[in-house]
Amino acid sequence: MKKIALVTGGGSGIGQALAQRLAAEGHFVFLAGRNAQKLETTCALIGQAGGRAEALTADLADEASIRQLAAQIKARTPTLDVLVHSAGCFRMGTLESAHIADLDDLYQVNLRAPYLLTQLLYALLLKAAGQIVFINSTAILNPGANWGAYAATKAALRAMADSLRAEINPRGVRVLTVIPGRTDTPMQEQVHQLENRPYQADRLMRPDDVALMTMQALNLPPSAEVTEIVVRPAQKLS
Ligand SMILES: NC(=O)c1ccc[n+]([C@@H]2O[C@H](COP(=O)([O-])OP(=O)(O)OC[C@H]3O[C@@H](n4cnc5c(N)ncnc54)[C@H](OP(=O)(O)O)[C@@H]3O)[C@@H](O)[C@H]2O)c1
Repeated sequence: MKKIALVTGGGSGIGQALAQRLAAEGHFVFLAGRNAQKLETTCALIGQAGGRAEALTADLADEASIRQLAAQIKARTPTLDVLVHSAGCFRMGTLESAHIADLDDLYQVNLRAPYLLTQLLYALLLKAAGQIVFINSTAILNPGANWGAYAATKAALRAMADSLRAEINPRGVRVLTVIPGRTDTPMQEQVHQLENRPYQADRLMRPDDVALMTMQALNLPPSAEVTEIVVRPAQKLS
C-alpha cells in the first residue's frame, strides 16, 4: 500500500531533503510552503528520481491558510503516515531591543502552526498509525544572547511534542523531536548574516545529514520509538 507524507517547509533545506528521502522510500509526499516555485523545484527533483509529490502552497502564519491546507490533504487522502513539521522562521535580537512583532511571528510559524496542523490532521495520523516529526533546534539546549525569542518558541515546541507523545503514543502514533545544530540552508545563511559572520558551508551539516538521521528513526520497527535526536556539525561552531 502506498504511504503518504506531508512535509511543511518542503521547498528548501531540511524539509526538502526529508521530502526527497521519504519519496525515495516510496511515500507520496505533499509539500507545503509559501513559495510555489520552491515547492515545484522539490517536486521536480523527486520526480526525476522516480518519486511522486504534490505542492500545496500555504502560509503557516495564517490560520485560514493552515485550515485550507488541512482540507486539501483530507480531500486527497483518508490517512497520513508521516507528518513532518520543518517550516520555521528565525528572528534575532536582545530582549531589550527586539520588536515584539518578531516574537509574534516566531510563535505563529514555529509553534502555533505545528500545533493546529497536527490537530487538524490528527484523525488521519491515527488511522495510519503514523509518525509525527518536529524539527527543533539545538538553540533550546543552550540559548545564547540574542536567541531568546527563537529558542523560546522551539523550547515550547519540544514541550508540546512531549505532551502530544504522552497523549497519542498509546493510540499507536510515534512522535519524534529532531534537534539539529547549524545546517547549510537558506535559514542558516540568514542567521550568519544577522550574526555578521562569514558563511562557511563546509563547517555546517548538510540538510541530508539531518534527513538521513531522521529516516533511521522513522524506519524503526513499531516495537521501538526514538523520542529525540540531537545531531550537530562534526566540528561545532560556537
Ligand atoms: N539550518 C539550521 O541551521 C537549523 C538548525 C536548527 C533548526 N533548524 C530548523 O529547521 C527547520 C527547517 O529550516 P531550514 O534550516 O531547512 O531552513 P529553510 O531552508 O529556510 O527552510 C525553512 C522553510 O520554512 C518555510 N516557511 C517559513 N515561513 C513559513 C510560513 N509562514 N508558511 C509556510 N512555510 C514557511 C519556508 O518555505 P517558504 O519560503 O516557501 O514559505 C522554508 O522552506 C526550521 O524549523 C528551523 O528552525 C534549522
